[in-house]
Amino acid sequence: MPEFFDLRSDTAIQPTAAMVESLRGLRFADDLLREDDPTNALLAHVSSEFGMESALLTPSGTMSNQIAVAVVSRPGTEVVVGDASHIYNLEGGGLAANSGVQVRAVGADAGDYRLEEIEAALRTSALQVSPTSAILLESTYDLNAGHVTSLENLAAIRGLADRTGAFVYMDGARVFNAAVALDVPLQEIARHVDAVQICLNKGLGGPLGSVLVGTAEFIEEARLVRQRLGGGMRHTGFIAAPGLLGFEDWRGRMTQDHAHATVLEEALSELSAVRVVNAPVETNIVTFEVQGADAQVADLEARLARAGVRVKPVGCRRFRAVTHATLSRNDIEFCASTLVDAITAATGP
Ligand SMILES: Cc1ncc(COP(=O)(O)O)c(C=O)c1O
Repeated sequence: MPEFFDLRSDTAIQPTAAMVESLRGLRFADDLLREDDPTNALLAHVSSEFGMESALLTPSGTMSNQIAVAVVSRPGTEVVVGDASHIYNLEGGGLAANSGVQVRAVGADAGDYRLEEIEAALRTSALQVSPTSAILLESTYDLNAGHVTSLENLAAIRGLADRTGAFVYMDGARVFNAAVALDVPLQEIARHVDAVQICLNKGLGGPLGSVLVGTAEFIEEARLVRQRLGGGMRHTGFIAAPGLLGFEDWRGRMTQDHAHATVLEEALSELSAVRVVNAPVETNIVTFEVQGADAQVADLEARLARAGVRVKPVGCRRFRAVTHATLSRNDIEFCASTLVDAITAATGP
Protein backbone atom coordinates (compact mmCIF):
# COMPACT_ATOMS: atom_id res chain seq x y z
CA MET A 1 0.00 0.00 0.00
CA PRO A 2 1.41 3.45 -0.86
CA GLU A 3 2.09 5.98 1.89
CA PHE A 4 -1.04 7.82 0.78
CA PHE A 5 -3.55 7.91 -2.06
CA ASP A 6 -3.09 11.11 -4.02
CA LEU A 7 -6.32 12.68 -5.27
CA ARG A 8 -4.92 16.21 -5.51
CA SER A 9 -4.54 16.00 -9.29
CA ASP A 10 -4.38 13.53 -12.15
CA THR A 11 -0.75 14.66 -12.46
CA ALA A 12 -0.19 12.39 -9.42
CA ILE A 13 -0.52 9.44 -11.81
CA GLN A 14 2.44 7.02 -11.74
CA PRO A 15 4.17 5.51 -14.79
CA THR A 16 3.25 1.98 -15.81
CA ALA A 17 5.91 -0.76 -15.87
CA ALA A 18 5.81 -0.61 -19.68
CA MET A 19 6.58 3.12 -19.61
CA VAL A 20 9.59 2.59 -17.38
CA GLU A 21 10.70 -0.31 -19.58
CA SER A 22 10.43 1.90 -22.69
CA LEU A 23 13.32 4.01 -21.38
CA ARG A 24 15.74 1.11 -21.50
CA GLY A 25 18.03 1.12 -24.51
CA LEU A 26 16.87 4.51 -25.76
CA ARG A 27 19.31 6.11 -28.16
CA PHE A 28 19.83 9.86 -27.81
CA ALA A 29 18.64 11.68 -30.91
CA ASP A 30 17.91 15.34 -31.45
CA ASP A 31 14.35 16.62 -31.77
CA LEU A 32 15.58 20.05 -32.93
CA LEU A 33 16.89 18.20 -35.95
CA ARG A 34 13.64 16.19 -36.05
CA GLU A 35 15.69 13.01 -35.80
CA ASP A 36 14.30 11.44 -32.65
CA ASP A 37 12.26 8.37 -33.60
CA PRO A 38 10.04 8.08 -30.48
CA THR A 39 9.25 11.80 -30.73
CA ASN A 40 8.41 11.55 -34.41
CA ALA A 41 6.22 8.51 -33.70
CA LEU A 42 4.42 10.37 -30.91
CA LEU A 43 3.82 13.44 -33.07
CA ALA A 44 2.52 11.33 -35.96
CA HIS A 45 0.20 9.48 -33.60
CA VAL A 46 -1.24 12.64 -32.06
CA SER A 47 -1.70 14.29 -35.46
CA SER A 48 -3.64 11.28 -36.68
CA GLU A 49 -5.79 10.98 -33.52
CA PHE A 50 -6.79 14.63 -33.95
CA GLY A 51 -7.04 14.56 -37.75
CA MET A 52 -4.58 17.43 -38.01
CA GLU A 53 -1.56 17.98 -40.21
CA SER A 54 1.30 18.44 -37.84
CA ALA A 55 2.40 18.45 -34.21
CA LEU A 56 5.12 19.76 -31.90
CA LEU A 57 6.39 18.54 -28.53
CA THR A 58 6.80 21.15 -25.79
CA PRO A 59 7.81 20.83 -22.14
CA SER A 60 4.41 21.76 -20.68
CA GLY A 61 0.79 22.55 -21.34
CA THR A 62 1.46 26.08 -20.21
CA MET A 63 4.19 26.54 -22.80
CA SER A 64 2.01 25.11 -25.57
CA ASN A 65 -0.78 27.51 -24.64
CA GLN A 66 1.59 30.45 -24.62
CA ILE A 67 3.20 29.46 -27.91
CA ALA A 68 -0.20 29.10 -29.58
CA VAL A 69 -1.33 32.58 -28.56
CA ALA A 70 1.99 34.11 -29.58
CA VAL A 71 1.75 32.51 -33.02
CA VAL A 72 -1.73 33.78 -33.80
CA SER A 73 -1.85 37.16 -32.03
CA ARG A 74 -0.11 40.41 -32.77
CA PRO A 75 0.49 42.53 -29.63
CA GLY A 76 -2.45 44.78 -28.97
CA THR A 77 -5.02 42.43 -30.45
CA GLU A 78 -7.66 40.85 -28.26
CA VAL A 79 -8.33 37.29 -27.20
CA VAL A 80 -11.56 35.87 -25.82
CA VAL A 81 -11.10 33.40 -22.94
CA GLY A 82 -13.26 31.52 -20.47
CA ASP A 83 -13.12 33.24 -17.09
CA ALA A 84 -12.28 29.99 -15.26
CA SER A 85 -9.60 28.87 -17.71
CA HIS A 86 -6.00 27.90 -16.90
CA ILE A 87 -4.60 30.18 -19.60
CA TYR A 88 -6.31 33.20 -18.03
CA ASN A 89 -5.78 32.42 -14.35
CA LEU A 90 -2.76 30.20 -13.85
CA GLU A 91 -0.09 31.04 -16.41
CA GLY A 92 1.65 33.92 -14.68
CA GLY A 93 -0.03 36.60 -16.74
CA GLY A 94 1.56 35.07 -19.83
CA LEU A 95 -1.10 36.38 -22.21
CA ALA A 96 -0.02 39.92 -21.40
CA ALA A 97 3.67 39.25 -20.78
CA ASN A 98 4.40 36.97 -23.74
CA SER A 99 1.94 38.07 -26.38
CA GLY A 100 0.84 41.57 -25.32
CA VAL A 101 -2.79 40.75 -25.92
CA GLN A 102 -5.82 42.32 -24.31
CA VAL A 103 -8.18 39.85 -22.71
CA ARG A 104 -11.96 39.66 -22.85
CA ALA A 105 -13.18 37.02 -20.43
CA VAL A 106 -16.52 35.31 -20.93
CA GLY A 107 -18.58 33.02 -18.73
CA ALA A 108 -19.57 29.41 -19.28
CA ASP A 109 -22.34 27.23 -17.92
CA ALA A 110 -21.17 23.71 -17.12
CA GLY A 111 -18.59 23.85 -19.89
CA ASP A 112 -20.71 25.54 -22.54
CA TYR A 113 -19.41 29.02 -23.28
CA ARG A 114 -22.04 31.77 -23.29
CA LEU A 115 -22.43 32.45 -26.98
CA GLU A 116 -23.98 35.85 -26.51
CA GLU A 117 -20.95 36.90 -24.47
CA ILE A 118 -18.55 35.60 -27.12
CA GLU A 119 -20.51 37.36 -29.83
CA ALA A 120 -20.41 40.63 -27.89
CA ALA A 121 -16.68 40.22 -27.20
CA LEU A 122 -15.63 39.55 -30.80
CA ARG A 123 -14.23 42.60 -32.56
CA THR A 124 -13.05 43.46 -36.01
CA SER A 125 -10.71 46.39 -36.54
CA ALA A 126 -12.24 49.79 -36.73
CA LEU A 127 -10.99 53.32 -36.14
CA GLN A 128 -10.38 52.84 -32.40
CA VAL A 129 -10.81 49.11 -32.03
CA SER A 130 -8.31 46.28 -32.15
CA PRO A 131 -9.51 42.98 -33.64
CA THR A 132 -9.95 39.67 -31.87
CA SER A 133 -7.10 37.44 -32.91
CA ALA A 134 -8.24 34.28 -31.14
CA ILE A 135 -10.88 32.55 -29.08
CA LEU A 136 -9.13 30.42 -26.46
CA LEU A 137 -11.23 27.46 -25.36
CA GLU A 138 -10.52 24.77 -22.78
CA SER A 139 -12.16 21.34 -22.59
CA THR A 140 -12.62 19.80 -20.19
CA TYR A 141 -13.26 23.26 -18.79
CA ASP A 142 -12.22 24.51 -15.35
CA LEU A 143 -9.62 22.40 -13.61
CA ASN A 144 -11.75 22.39 -10.46
CA ALA A 145 -14.82 21.12 -12.29
CA GLY A 146 -13.90 19.11 -15.40
CA HIS A 147 -16.91 20.28 -17.37
CA VAL A 148 -17.38 19.10 -20.94
CA THR A 149 -18.00 21.56 -23.75
CA SER A 150 -20.77 20.20 -25.96
CA LEU A 151 -20.22 19.66 -29.68
CA GLU A 152 -23.13 22.02 -30.38
CA ASN A 153 -21.43 24.76 -28.39
CA LEU A 154 -18.15 24.17 -30.22
CA ALA A 155 -19.90 24.29 -33.60
CA ALA A 156 -21.62 27.54 -32.68
CA ILE A 157 -18.33 29.10 -31.53
CA ARG A 158 -16.70 28.01 -34.78
CA GLY A 159 -19.51 29.77 -36.65
CA LEU A 160 -19.00 32.98 -34.68
CA ALA A 161 -15.24 32.88 -35.20
CA ASP A 162 -15.63 32.39 -38.92
CA ARG A 163 -17.67 35.57 -39.15
CA THR A 164 -14.68 37.62 -37.96
CA GLY A 165 -11.73 35.42 -38.89
CA ALA A 166 -10.67 34.75 -35.29
CA PHE A 167 -8.45 31.69 -34.72
CA VAL A 168 -10.03 29.03 -32.48
CA TYR A 169 -7.62 27.37 -30.08
CA MET A 170 -8.31 24.68 -27.50
CA ASP A 171 -6.37 23.96 -24.35
CA GLY A 172 -7.04 20.23 -24.37
CA ALA A 173 -5.05 19.35 -21.26
CA ARG A 174 -7.97 16.99 -20.50
CA VAL A 175 -9.60 16.75 -23.92
CA PHE A 176 -9.38 12.95 -23.63
CA ASN A 177 -11.76 13.10 -20.69
CA ALA A 178 -14.08 15.27 -22.78
CA ALA A 179 -14.00 12.75 -25.65
CA VAL A 180 -14.85 9.94 -23.24
CA ALA A 181 -17.73 11.88 -21.70
CA LEU A 182 -19.10 12.78 -25.14
CA ASP A 183 -18.35 9.27 -26.44
CA VAL A 184 -16.85 10.64 -29.65
CA PRO A 185 -13.45 10.33 -31.36
CA LEU A 186 -11.00 13.16 -30.65
CA GLN A 187 -11.43 14.31 -34.25
CA GLU A 188 -15.08 15.15 -33.58
CA ILE A 189 -13.93 17.75 -31.07
CA ALA A 190 -10.86 18.87 -33.00
CA ARG A 191 -12.73 19.59 -36.22
CA HIS A 192 -14.27 22.68 -34.63
CA VAL A 193 -10.93 24.26 -33.72
CA ASP A 194 -7.75 25.33 -35.51
CA ALA A 195 -5.24 23.97 -33.00
CA VAL A 196 -5.19 22.01 -29.74
CA GLN A 197 -2.65 21.25 -27.03
CA ILE A 198 -2.78 18.01 -25.07
CA CYS A 199 -0.97 17.19 -21.84
CA LEU A 200 0.93 13.91 -21.67
CA ASN A 201 1.28 14.09 -17.90
CA LYS A 202 -2.36 14.01 -16.78
CA GLY A 203 -4.79 11.15 -17.48
CA LEU A 204 -2.43 9.66 -20.08
CA GLY A 205 0.20 9.09 -17.40
CA GLY A 206 3.34 10.24 -19.21
CA PRO A 207 6.18 11.80 -17.22
CA LEU A 208 5.89 15.32 -18.61
CA GLY A 209 5.27 17.26 -21.77
CA SER A 210 2.58 18.53 -24.06
CA VAL A 211 1.86 18.17 -27.76
CA LEU A 212 0.60 21.09 -29.78
CA VAL A 213 -1.28 20.03 -32.90
CA GLY A 214 -2.60 22.02 -35.86
CA THR A 215 -1.92 22.89 -39.48
CA ALA A 216 1.59 22.46 -40.89
CA GLU A 217 1.91 26.22 -41.21
CA PHE A 218 0.83 26.88 -37.61
CA ILE A 219 3.21 24.22 -36.27
CA GLU A 220 6.17 25.61 -38.23
CA GLU A 221 5.60 29.02 -36.66
CA ALA A 222 5.09 27.38 -33.28
CA ARG A 223 8.47 25.66 -33.67
CA LEU A 224 10.18 29.04 -33.92
CA VAL A 225 8.33 30.45 -30.90
CA ARG A 226 9.19 27.30 -28.93
CA GLN A 227 12.84 27.94 -29.73
CA ARG A 228 12.52 31.58 -28.68
CA LEU A 229 11.10 30.54 -25.32
CA GLY A 230 13.78 27.92 -24.74
CA GLY A 231 11.41 25.00 -25.18
CA GLY A 232 13.48 23.07 -27.72
CA MET A 233 14.65 20.06 -25.72
CA ARG A 234 16.81 17.96 -28.09
CA HIS A 235 16.87 14.45 -26.49
CA THR A 236 13.14 14.11 -26.09
CA GLY A 237 12.88 10.35 -26.45
CA PHE A 238 12.65 10.11 -22.66
CA ILE A 239 9.41 12.06 -22.82
CA ALA A 240 8.05 10.64 -26.06
CA ALA A 241 8.59 6.89 -25.61
CA PRO A 242 6.56 6.61 -22.36
CA GLY A 243 4.24 9.39 -23.59
CA LEU A 244 3.24 7.33 -26.61
CA LEU A 245 2.45 4.35 -24.37
CA GLY A 246 0.01 6.59 -22.52
CA PHE A 247 -2.26 6.32 -25.56
CA GLU A 248 -2.76 2.58 -25.09
CA ASP A 249 -6.38 2.06 -24.06
CA TRP A 250 -6.69 5.66 -22.85
CA ARG A 251 -10.43 5.51 -23.45
CA GLY A 252 -10.88 2.44 -21.25
CA ARG A 253 -8.76 3.89 -18.46
CA MET A 254 -10.47 7.25 -18.46
CA THR A 255 -13.91 5.67 -18.58
CA GLN A 256 -12.88 3.94 -15.37
CA ASP A 257 -11.53 7.21 -13.91
CA HIS A 258 -14.92 8.82 -14.52
CA ALA A 259 -16.74 5.92 -12.87
CA HIS A 260 -14.39 6.28 -9.90
CA ALA A 261 -15.18 9.99 -9.64
CA THR A 262 -18.86 9.05 -9.47
CA VAL A 263 -18.09 6.67 -6.59
CA LEU A 264 -16.56 9.59 -4.69
CA GLU A 265 -19.43 11.90 -5.62
CA GLU A 266 -22.05 9.42 -4.43
CA ALA A 267 -20.29 8.84 -1.10
CA LEU A 268 -19.90 12.58 -0.48
CA SER A 269 -23.49 13.30 -1.47
CA GLU A 270 -24.68 11.14 1.44
CA LEU A 271 -23.27 13.65 3.92
CA SER A 272 -25.49 16.56 4.93
CA ALA A 273 -22.43 18.73 5.64
CA VAL A 274 -21.16 18.36 2.07
CA ARG A 275 -22.19 19.89 -1.23
CA VAL A 276 -20.60 18.57 -4.42
CA VAL A 277 -19.97 21.87 -6.18
CA ASN A 278 -19.69 20.47 -9.72
CA ALA A 279 -22.56 17.96 -9.47
CA PRO A 280 -23.38 16.04 -11.52
CA VAL A 281 -19.75 15.12 -11.98
CA GLU A 282 -19.00 14.80 -15.70
CA THR A 283 -15.43 13.53 -15.82
CA ASN A 284 -12.66 12.78 -13.30
CA ILE A 285 -12.84 15.84 -11.05
CA VAL A 286 -14.95 16.18 -7.89
CA THR A 287 -14.97 19.46 -5.98
CA PHE A 288 -16.86 19.59 -2.71
CA GLU A 289 -17.66 22.18 -0.09
CA VAL A 290 -17.83 21.30 3.60
CA GLN A 291 -20.01 23.07 6.16
CA GLY A 292 -19.08 23.01 9.84
CA ALA A 293 -16.96 24.78 12.47
CA ASP A 294 -14.18 26.80 10.80
CA ALA A 295 -11.34 25.16 12.71
CA GLN A 296 -12.59 21.64 11.95
CA VAL A 297 -12.94 22.34 8.23
CA ALA A 298 -9.53 24.04 8.19
CA ASP A 299 -8.04 20.90 9.71
CA LEU A 300 -9.78 18.53 7.28
CA GLU A 301 -6.96 18.37 4.73
CA ALA A 302 -4.46 17.39 7.44
CA ARG A 303 -6.91 14.93 9.01
CA LEU A 304 -7.39 13.24 5.63
CA ALA A 305 -3.66 13.16 4.99
CA ARG A 306 -3.10 11.41 8.34
CA ALA A 307 -5.69 8.84 7.26
CA GLY A 308 -3.86 8.27 3.96
CA VAL A 309 -5.82 10.39 1.47
CA ARG A 310 -4.58 13.66 -0.04
CA VAL A 311 -7.07 16.17 -1.47
CA LYS A 312 -6.38 19.70 -2.67
CA PRO A 313 -7.90 22.76 -0.99
CA VAL A 314 -9.24 24.96 -3.79
CA GLY A 315 -11.09 27.74 -2.00
CA CYS A 316 -13.00 28.61 1.11
CA ARG A 317 -14.20 25.24 2.52
CA ARG A 318 -13.65 23.67 -0.90
CA PHE A 319 -11.55 20.64 -1.72
CA ARG A 320 -10.77 18.91 -4.99
CA ALA A 321 -10.40 15.18 -5.62
CA VAL A 322 -9.22 13.97 -9.03
CA THR A 323 -9.20 10.34 -10.11
CA HIS A 324 -6.52 8.77 -12.30
CA ALA A 325 -5.44 5.35 -13.47
CA THR A 326 -2.98 4.71 -10.63
CA LEU A 327 -5.98 4.39 -8.29
CA SER A 328 -7.83 1.08 -8.53
CA ARG A 329 -11.48 0.50 -7.61
CA ASN A 330 -10.37 -0.75 -4.18
CA ASP A 331 -8.21 2.32 -3.67
CA ILE A 332 -11.12 4.58 -4.59
CA GLU A 333 -13.46 2.75 -2.22
CA PHE A 334 -10.88 3.22 0.55
CA CYS A 335 -10.65 6.93 -0.37
CA ALA A 336 -14.45 7.29 -0.36
CA SER A 337 -14.88 5.73 3.08
CA THR A 338 -11.91 7.70 4.45
CA LEU A 339 -13.45 10.93 3.16
CA VAL A 340 -16.79 10.07 4.74
CA ASP A 341 -15.20 9.15 8.09
CA ALA A 342 -12.95 12.20 8.21
CA ILE A 343 -15.68 14.64 7.26
CA THR A 344 -18.12 13.05 9.71
CA ALA A 345 -15.51 13.27 12.48
CA ALA A 346 -14.89 16.92 11.62
CA THR A 347 -18.50 18.02 11.27
CA GLY A 348 -20.65 15.50 13.10
CA PRO A 349 -23.07 13.01 11.47
C1 LIG B 1 -6.65 22.99 -18.11
C2 LIG B 1 -5.17 23.04 -17.99
N1 LIG B 1 -4.46 23.64 -18.94
C3 LIG B 1 -3.12 23.71 -18.90
C4 LIG B 1 -2.42 23.15 -17.85
C5 LIG B 1 -0.93 23.31 -17.81
O1 LIG B 1 -0.23 22.15 -17.91
P1 LIG B 1 1.30 22.10 -17.39
O2 LIG B 1 1.22 21.88 -15.92
O3 LIG B 1 1.88 20.95 -18.14
O4 LIG B 1 1.94 23.39 -17.73
C6 LIG B 1 -3.12 22.52 -16.81
C7 LIG B 1 -2.39 21.92 -15.69
O5 LIG B 1 -2.95 21.57 -14.68
C8 LIG B 1 -4.53 22.46 -16.89
O6 LIG B 1 -5.25 21.88 -15.92
